[in-house]
Order: sequence, then C-alpha cells, then structure tokens
Amino acid sequence: MTEIEPLRIGVCGVGTVGLATINILQNQSSLVAARCGREVRVTHVGARRDHPDHNYGDAKVSRDVMDVARDPDVDVVVELIGGTTVAHEVMKIAIEHGKHVVTANKALIAEHGNQLIALAEASGVQLCFEAAVAGGIPVIKSVREALAGNAVSEVAGIINGTANFILTEMSNKGRAFEEVLLEAQALGYAEADPTFDVDGTDAAHKLVILASLAFGAPLSIDAPAKQGIQALTPEDLDYAKTLGYRVKHLGIARRAGGRIEMRVHPTLIPEDKQLAGIDGVLNAIMVKADAVGELLLVGPGAGGSATASSVCADIIDIARDHGVTGYPLGIPAGDLTPLPVIPWEEISSEWYLRLRVTDRPGVMSDITQKLASRGISIESLVQKASKEGDTDVPIVILIHAVPASLMNDAMKAVVALDEVQSDVALIRVESFD
Ligand code: HSE
Repeated sequence: MTEIEPLRIGVCGVGTVGLATINILQNQSSLVAARCGREVRVTHVGARRDHPDHNYGDAKVSRDVMDVARDPDVDVVVELIGGTTVAHEVMKIAIEHGKHVVTANKALIAEHGNQLIALAEASGVQLCFEAAVAGGIPVIKSVREALAGNAVSEVAGIINGTANFILTEMSNKGRAFEEVLLEAQALGYAEADPTFDVDGTDAAHKLVILASLAFGAPLSIDAPAKQGIQALTPEDLDYAKTLGYRVKHLGIARRAGGRIEMRVHPTLIPEDKQLAGIDGVLNAIMVKADAVGELLLVGPGAGGSATASSVCADIIDIARDHGVTGYPLGIPAGDLTPLPVIPWEEISSEWYLRLRVTDRPGVMSDITQKLASRGISIESLVQKASKEGDTDVPIVILIHAVPASLMNDAMKAVVALDEVQSDVALIRVESFD
C-alpha cells in the first residue's frame, strides 16, 4: 500500500483553543491517523510570545505568525488568533500560498467571509470554520451536509456560552452579573473583549454564519438586530420564572415569505420548551427544516477543549480529503442569493413589559387604556409586592403579539404618565409553537 504523506499543520495562536488543538492532535495521534489514513502532524506554531509551559512536540516555533502562513512545509493553516486584523492577513496569505485554512474566528468569517470564501474557492483550497459557531456542537456540518436535502425555514438558539452561563448563574443562584462574567473569563469561555459576549455581537456573528448556511444567502454582517444581556436584572429573571418562563439570550434567523428575520436578544421562553432548560455554558440550536422537521443540537458552546474538538474535525476532514462539500457555505459563493431582512420594528412577537409605578388608584386603568387605544391586547397583568421602603410597585404585563414599532410607541405613551417611572424592561417572548 502506498504511504500517504503526513498532513502538515501550522497553528497560529496558542491561547486556550490553540493549545487544546495541539494537545488533541498529539494525544490522539494514532486515532487521528487511523481515521485519516495518514499522519496529522503539527509542524509549525506561530506564537507571539514564549509559553515555557506549552509542549509543541517537534514543531518549529515562530514569533511572526505570517511565517506560518507562508511556510512551504505547512499544508493547513489553523488560525486561532482571533480578531479581524492580523487573523485576516494570516488567512489571506495562507490561501494565496495554496494552503487550506481552518479557523474558529466567527467575527472574521461574518465580516470578511464572502471575500475569503471566494478567494479560497478560486484557489482550490478548503476554508473550514466548524469551531466558529457554538464551540463543540457540529452545527455547520449538520446544516450544510447532514441536512443538505432540506429547505431550512428557521435556525434559533442559544449561541453564546458566556451569556448563557451568566444568565443561568444570575437566575438560579442570584449571583451578580460582574462576578459571573469574571468567572466565565477565567474558565476560558469569554471572548478577548467580553463586551462581545454580553452585548450580542458574538451571537450576531454566529447568526450571520448560520443564516447564510441555512438560507443560501451571502454573509450579511449588518443584518441582525441586536440586544445584549447587560440591562437584565435578577428581578426580571425572577418575575419571568414566577410566570412560567425562563429568560435566554437567543439568536433567531427565520424565513418569512421572501424575507428573513435576523435578531439577537434576550427572550422569555415557556419553561416547558427544551430551549428553556439549556443552562450554563451549553449552547443549543433548533433547526426547522421541511423533510426532517425540527431538531435540537445541544452541547458545550465555549471552552478550549470543546472548541478544539471542532477545529480537529475540520483538520481531519481535510486530511481525509472528503467530508466537506468544497463550498464552505454549501453552494458556490457566486451562487448565493441575498435575501431582504425584515426590520426589527416590523417583527411581531409577544412581549414582557415590566414597569414601576406609583401605587395610586387609577394608574392601572391609565396604563391599560394606553395599550388598548393602540389595539394592544394584554394576556396577563400582575402587580408585584413592592420592596420594603419603596413607594413604587412593579407591574408585569404579558402582551399578545404585536410589532416592535407599535410596542415602542405604546411604551413611550405609558412612560409619559406621571405615575410611571422611566425604569422599564421590555423583552420579547417566543413560544416556539
Ligand atoms: N465567547 C464565546 C461564547 C466562545 O461564550 O460562546 C465561543 O464562541
């Protein structure tokens, strides 16, 4: 039997995911070789500083990651630097030098993926990014390959592990936002700039990639409407619970006629829905498709080892020279068809509205009148007990489906009432029926 040459891997960036990738390829080398029919060898590591505690085996180490991207003795460049500047350059150079590229960089794919994918396709190399969405969950392959016979109508789910970890700890243990965020950083879940995790940017990047795969449209970075979790209070998480809901930070991409909804925001979900029970760093992505129906992919959405598992899957696909379609977004870049995106204001949903009002006779009727006069129908209204010493009382209202434009207009009118404070929470509710 002819011996196939080893596949030579250059790893750029040795943070949590980079190091975990090298460790898997070293520790599981026999298993990987058996599955690929050839050895997969890390031959070059690009690390901008020294890490005396890291073991890169026999790999050459360069301070300049561009040396890895240009190295003639590297077949696959694994970009795990993050960010959209140096990482972008590394990927371009690697592709131009005829190398396959594997990355976990969702920001880069969401922002510059159209050009990079076109370049990779024209150069006849693979560009793989399984690890860019939902860490260890094989969602890219599932949508692109396993569901290739389906028309997908919706992808929706929890796609940021840090945000889910924070919400779970706040809701279940009453812990403070900042304290849990620090823990998520220490555990290697959070982005280098954790603002991206909590303001919805990271989830929006992942949604852009999922929507493109699901609907055969080009990557559209400006498409998602975006709200983060920073404004959520333990009080609102608690009220939602007492009403039979959980608050999750969701990314939703849904076909509606010839257009799509693309949105990332905190959402109340009925507690009996599977998504409501996905806690901690777990991610979960629900896919609705015509042939298969509905499925839910659940798993660790962040963390070095789980994300490296996806990086290695891409490397192994390349080593086997099968398993990927050859088209990173499922169809050739030139055949992707843009889809109009429905503006946030037009998207209809049920709503959770929490107000704080002066406890005076007639205030409830003033509020309900402002809603009713706009045709907004109340599903339930609960007055909560005020905290000791407070003159104001919280009121929680669940509202039947209306578009955001109407809801915002009503909310302005409600807050303009003398008895209503400006501290308001307005959160979409999704029943997924
Ligand atoms: N910071 C990301 C998260 C890592 O928390 O989900 C995985 O993309």
